[in-house]
Amino acid sequence: MPAKRAAVILAAGQGTRMKSALPKVLHKVGGKAMVDWAIDVAVGLGCERTVVVVGAHSPVVGQHVGARLGADAVAVQDPPQGTAHAVRAAEDALGNFEGDVVILYGDTPMTRPDTVASLFEKRASGANLVVLGFEAEDPFGYGRLVLDETGALARIVEEKDATDEERALTLCNSGVIVADRAVLFSLLSMVKNENAKGEYYLTDVIGLARSSGFRAEVVVADEEEMMGVNSRVELAEAEHEFQARRRHHFMLAGVTMIDPWSVYFSHDTQIGNDVTIEPGVFFGPGVTVESGATVKAWSHLEGAHVGKEAAIGPFVRLRPGARLSAKVKIGNFVEIKNATFGEGAQASHLTYVGDAEVGARANLGCGTITCNYDGFDKYKTIIGEDAFIGSDTALVAPVRIGARAFTGSGSVITKDVPDDALAVARGRQKDIPGWAKAFRERKLAERAARGGKRKEAE
Ligand code: UD1
Ligand code: MG
Repeated sequence: MPAKRAAVILAAGQGTRMKSALPKVLHKVGGKAMVDWAIDVAVGLGCERTVVVVGAHSPVVGQHVGARLGADAVAVQDPPQGTAHAVRAAEDALGNFEGDVVILYGDTPMTRPDTVASLFEKRASGANLVVLGFEAEDPFGYGRLVLDETGALARIVEEKDATDEERALTLCNSGVIVADRAVLFSLLSMVKNENAKGEYYLTDVIGLARSSGFRAEVVVADEEEMMGVNSRVELAEAEHEFQARRRHHFMLAGVTMIDPWSVYFSHDTQIGNDVTIEPGVFFGPGVTVESGATVKAWSHLEGAHVGKEAAIGPFVRLRPGARLSAKVKIGNFVEIKNATFGEGAQASHLTYVGDAEVGARANLGCGTITCNYDGFDKYKTIIGEDAFIGSDTALVAPVRIGARAFTGSGSVITKDVPDDALAVARGRQKDIPGWAKAFRERKLAERAARGGKRKEAE
């Protein structure tokens, strides 16, 4: 039977370089907090216990993690005295767990679950400790992995404590380690802080493991997976990497993007095959688009569902709770919030629909507005199937338009409209024959009397 798994996520750093009131690990990549990226790796790997080590300086991180995993998943390291000290802070919260523990960082959101899975596999095949390493383009600042002649990991040396020869090594420590719990914590209890920084280094467990007769090995992954975020510049770089991965993923899954580099996804965006996405589209969290749909240029979607073969945009805004059924058509400058559209319903131009149910095949004319808010409460508009809402209709909610009913253009509808009726709610048109002709003649005569000049403004 494979060993059970647990995770310890280190997130007690101050993150001062973010220059932010928000703790670093709560900053988002792809719309998801960085610490949640690490938690999701742990969850995805089947970890039965996940402990996040937080600093006393940022209780909101503890609250965030507690809300997701329960208060007992939070360990406080106060004050932070190094990465080994941080892992030890998690010991009590691991409870009576026995099995393999993976150590992850809360600020490296690009680490792939598959990569960490390969560490567990190497551990299962006999190594006592497995470290995730990478070939660094510029190794400055990283711990270097020193291998022995058999290719096993002999020790890790930190930049500040390294000799010139060791500094020349480019194989670096990511910080991710998998080890048996009992072995890990027995080694951690031996770690001392006699080094350049005066900290308890997690990396020291490797040298200690070797002298205790344990075998440590390395799994090498791409440097981009190790990207750690310390500043807003690096946050943007991580976002860039996330977006590149998602675009690639969706194109391979059958999504057409004319200019993929201009389309932005969230961590949970779901797009079916044969969807076409035009340039400049932004997907906030919580969007699903079903197959065959088209999202035209410069649209912004969040918390929304777009049904099969629907066509939306250009310049459409779908806000949370917008749910469009199959074959719905939404055109330019239309905003939809908390509203359902039945199959084949349309709103082609300049429209606001909020807190509404729109029946199948209903057609909302240009400039339709649901007046859903009175400054205190929100009210619902219901539009029946096959209804036709004339251009520039204001629907003052709560109000219900019957199936197949029409509203006259420019109407302000304040009362329910029966099925099959026409509702007209505006001043009746009155024609005054000849008025315009007489007006024009009088004005032309006045101008002639002034010598052909326009009247000067007062
Ligand atoms: C660490 C590694 C180094 C590795 C590098 C990869 C050690 C001694 N060094 O160095 O080998 O190449 O990461 O990025 O482990 N943290 C705590 N409590 C602490 C200290 C740190 O929770 O007391 C957390 C930080 O929030 C961060 C992570 O641990 O998420 C790493 O700490 P950091 O100070 O960035 O370590 P590095 O010096 O970069
Ligand atoms: Mg670091």
